[in-house]
Amino acid sequence: MRVLGIESSCDETAVAVYDGTRGLLSHRLYSQIAMHQAYGGVVPELASRDHVRRLLPLVREALADAHSDRDSIDGIAYTAGPGLIGALLVGAGFATALGSAWRKPALGIHHLEGHLLAPLLEPKPPAFPFLALLVSGGHTQLVDVAALGDYRIVGETLDDAAGEAFDKTAKLLGLPYPGGAALATLAESGRSGQFAFPRPMLDRPGLDFSFSGLKTAALVALRGRDLQGPVRADIARGFEDAVVETLAEKCRRALVQTGHTRLVIAGGVGANRRLRERLAAVGLNIGADVYFPRTEFCTDNGAMIALAGCLRLSAGMRAGLGMSARANWELGSIGV
Ligand code: KG4
Ligand code: ZN
Repeated sequence: MRVLGIESSCDETAVAVYDGTRGLLSHRLYSQIAMHQAYGGVVPELASRDHVRRLLPLVREALADAHSDRDSIDGIAYTAGPGLIGALLVGAGFATALGSAWRKPALGIHHLEGHLLAPLLEPKPPAFPFLALLVSGGHTQLVDVAALGDYRIVGETLDDAAGEAFDKTAKLLGLPYPGGAALATLAESGRSGQFAFPRPMLDRPGLDFSFSGLKTAALVALRGRDLQGPVRADIARGFEDAVVETLAEKCRRALVQTGHTRLVIAGGVGANRRLRERLAAVGLNIGADVYFPRTEFCTDNGAMIALAGCLRLSAGMRAGLGMSARANWELGSIGV
């Protein structure tokens, strides 16, 4: 089974070819970040128009890289949601039209299912079942993954997502959008413990998160300070420490509570070096194996969508055939 995967839910146009026997054959990505930076965030209409421009050339390149064509592709997978509706419609329209012309199934994939399956692209993939920490720009969730398509949310953020908190705090620190990675780089030269950041929700039972207070704490820390000195890096470090510690402690509790012995990290914030180190330490400490995608597959990409499509089509899961694009879509409700 060989699947062409298309991701266009936000500001990355990404295409990949995944083969059930040979693994990932090609992947291509065009990031719109430079275009949106002037506005300090993603402009949905500009995003949709750019996906229209980029998609077809990327598909051609990814197919050529994979030495694949209409005859060797068995199905087309595309991100059906959640995401920006205009951006999703570009991928969904393209994939269903191509599927119809090629007489191949076109399957709509949940973006977060793509993220949580991304570690399966690595040489040592996790087996089902596992616990997944999904930390992206729009979501922060702990998911009990029993099997492909069988997802139960056991904890989630009550307000901002972890990536959103990174981006908003980075903006306060004068870093360009999306600031997560830049904040992490700045934090490298900062000192821990110079500013008191809360550890939200750690004093309460349950596995939910809350990150909106952290950007307020950063704002308070910044007030009246000279941003030219080492203070910025110290604030970045204090913020990063707080997010990392909170995520790590909730993962530890979730592993204990669910009894899972495998922890999967996925989504853009999963690229954070300190978070990866900290979660690896949690795993060692409680005897759980921890799995990360390579950093380029933590953020949005086509490979995870092609993989999810391949697994679903191989398992005979055909729900999602017929064009679908949903701005809001609960992961726990997708089924098989
Ligand atoms: O999964 P993703 O590419 O897109 C969504 O589906 O949201 O995640 C993007 C998020 C952004 O908020 C970005 O700032 C954050 O991931 N991010 C990071 C790092 N790299 C990306 N956050 C912290 N540290 C990083 N190294
Ligand atoms: Zn994403």
